This record gives sequence, structure tokens and C-alpha cells, in this order.
Amino acid sequence: MYVETHPRKVRGEAVHMTSSEKKAIEQAHNSKASSNPSIQVSIRSPANMDCSYELITEEARHKAIEEAFLTPESNHFISTPEVKEMEKRLVLWLKSGYPVHLIGPTGCGKTSLAVHVAQVLGRPVVWINGDESVTTSDLIGGYSQMQSESVRDNYVHNVFKTKDTMKIEWVDNPLSLACKYGYTLIYNEFSRTKPASNNVLLSVFEEGILELPTKFGEDRYIKVHPDFKAILTSNSIEYAGIHRPQDALLDRMVGLYADYYGYETEVKIVMEHTGIPKEKAERIVTVVRSIRDKLPDGQKPGTRACIMIAKGWQTSATGEDLAIDFRQMCIDVLASKTSSPRDMEEKKKLVMESAEYSA
Ligand SMILES: Nc1ncnc2c1ncn2[C@@H]1O[C@H](COP(=O)(O)OP(=O)(O)O)[C@@H](O)[C@H]1O
Ligand SMILES: [Mg+2]
Repeated sequence: MYVETHPRKVRGEAVHMTSSEKKAIEQAHNSKASSNPSIQVSIRSPANMDCSYELITEEARHKAIEEAFLTPESNHFISTPEVKEMEKRLVLWLKSGYPVHLIGPTGCGKTSLAVHVAQVLGRPVVWINGDESVTTSDLIGGYSQMQSESVRDNYVHNVFKTKDTMKIEWVDNPLSLACKYGYTLIYNEFSRTKPASNNVLLSVFEEGILELPTKFGEDRYIKVHPDFKAILTSNSIEYAGIHRPQDALLDRMVGLYADYYGYETEVKIVMEHTGIPKEKAERIVTVVRSIRDKLPDGQKPGTRACIMIAKGWQTSATGEDLAIDFRQMCIDVLASKTSSPRDMEEKKKLVMESAEYSA
């Protein structure tokens, strides 16, 4: 009887394989394909999602897509009684099952609050920024991507086989990810998006159904996951502007009006972001608030302006050659929304008065 002491090889590969054995191996090989790290699946994503990955498993693919829409971290978030109060209302309505619309002037803290609360909720967070060019498929995803696989088949001896397949595949964008898996969606500045693109939100908010208009049959409807939550923000001034969201959509959300935080909170925010001493933070906030009172809506400086001045002040303190007058720094920061020399003169005057007063 022939006893095999070592596998016989032809050019390095075992022979003696029946066709059924070969088939079995081939099948195993194929079924492993999706989890085989030697297979690279590269994803070209739809518009606005500027990323490409080498992906291995389905799970890893989702993770990578989620990462593409990852929210900014809420850094240096501080709480004061008024921040807590807003946070409580926001959480209350979300937990009651309603999407919440944060409305307020630029720089009052809407986005920070939304990001913070989303993190507190503890679910993955996906994020989209509204603008003129956002389409429904930026929200829900689409078929626009190609998947290509290259399989190096080297189980047959001496054969180097390459298989290229091109597949059109559906890629989820933030809204469908959030609806499917129960994530928290932050839709920042949603009223900048054309109302027609946002229509898809109507049935999500009302009936708990996401309709994917480009899909057919069963796939066309996704039941919204019970953990799905949505926080939308919009600027109170723009929001009344050209792309005013349709009433039907506004009716389906709870609106929380956010105004600039009070003096104490702003001082605390400035200190938290910059580490500047309290007296300096107070001086900055006093000037900014006094100017805020005097300028018309749309030109009012927000909390961000306070932080900018504080950072400038700190940098200015690092060297003789950088020493700049406090008032000049205020003017520079506030000039960002200035459109004419006359406008500039007026702002200078305001800063001079306020800064003098605060000194
Ligand atoms: N509670 C907070 N804690 C710390 N920083 C805050 C807080 N709220 C707002 N800020 C800061 O104030 C600035 C403006 O806030 P932001 O959320 O961007 O305003 P909006 O979205 O309303 O324009 C940002 O620099 C942000 O980091
Ligand atoms: Mg914002």
C-alpha cells in the first residue's frame, strides 16, 4: 500500500486533487472572500463624501462610513445653570421622541450644545452640514459608487488569476445610517438646504418611515430605528431668509430658541477655551456684549468673537513685538463682518467707547 510520507509537489503545489475537492476549496475560498484581508474592496463614495477606503468586513465598512460623517468633538464644553437648562429641554424632547430644532443667532452655542447632547445620549453620532448644494442623496445615500474587487487566485498551481468585478452598490449617507441603526443625527444649519432636498425628512419625523426614492420594492422603505434621534440647528436670521423651511417640516419638530448666553456663562466659556485669567475674560466679554447690544442682527458678535479676542490677547502677551492694543484686537475681530469704510468707522467708535468703559 502506498503510504504518503510527504505531499507530492509540482512546482511547489500539491497535486492529487479531485475536481470535487477543488470545487470545495474554491467554494470555501469564495465564501471567505468578504472577510479575507487579502481582498481589497475600495469604495468610491457619492458626492460630498470625499473618502476612499480599503475595507474588509461589512462591519468595518459601516464603521468607515460612520467615520466619514463623524461629528466634531465637543471640546471644552462647560455647563452653567443656563446651559444645563437648555440641555435638559433638549434631552427631554429627544427622549419624548421628537426631533429638536435649535434656532438662534450665529455664535450663541447651538452647535456645541447639539454635539454635547448627542454625546451624552451615548449613541453613535452622524453629522451633516446644510447648504445650498445639499441634495436628498447627500442625506440618504445612493447608488453612485463602484465597488471593485481584485482576487488573486493562487490555489491552482502556477496560475495567477485576477478577477475584476465592478458592482454598483448602495451607500448610506447620514440620514439612512441614523434611521437604520438608531444613531443620533445632527443636521447643522439645515435651513441652508433647499426645502425640496429636506422633504425626505417629513415621513421620517411623522410616520417613522424613511423612503429611499431611488430604490424599489421592499428596499424602498426603512422603518426608523427606535433609538433614532435628530437635532437640527439653524440660524435665526437666515432661517427667515430665502430657504425658509416648509411649515410641514417645522411643525414636526420641537423648536428651542437659543439666545446668546449670559455674562457669567460667556466668561466661563472664554476661560475654558483659552485659559485666560478671569479679569481679562471679563473685560473681553463686557466689550463684546456692549457692542452686541448696539449692532443690528446679523452683525452681532457671538461667543466665538470673545474667544478669538482672548486668544489674540494671549498671543500678544508672548512677546514685545506682538504687543497690540486691546482695543485694536477687538476692532480686528469685529471687523470680520464689516462691509464698508463707514461701517468700519462706526465699529471703531463703538469699540473705543466700550473698551474705554470696560478698562
Ligand atoms: N457650553 C459651551 N461650553 C464651551 N464652549 C462653548 C459652549 N457653547 C458655545 N461654546 C463656544 O462658543 C463658540 C460658538 O458656539 P457654536 O456652538 O459654534 O455656536 P453656533 O452653532 O450657535 O454658531 C464656539 O467656539 C464654541 O466652542
Ligand atoms: Mg453652528
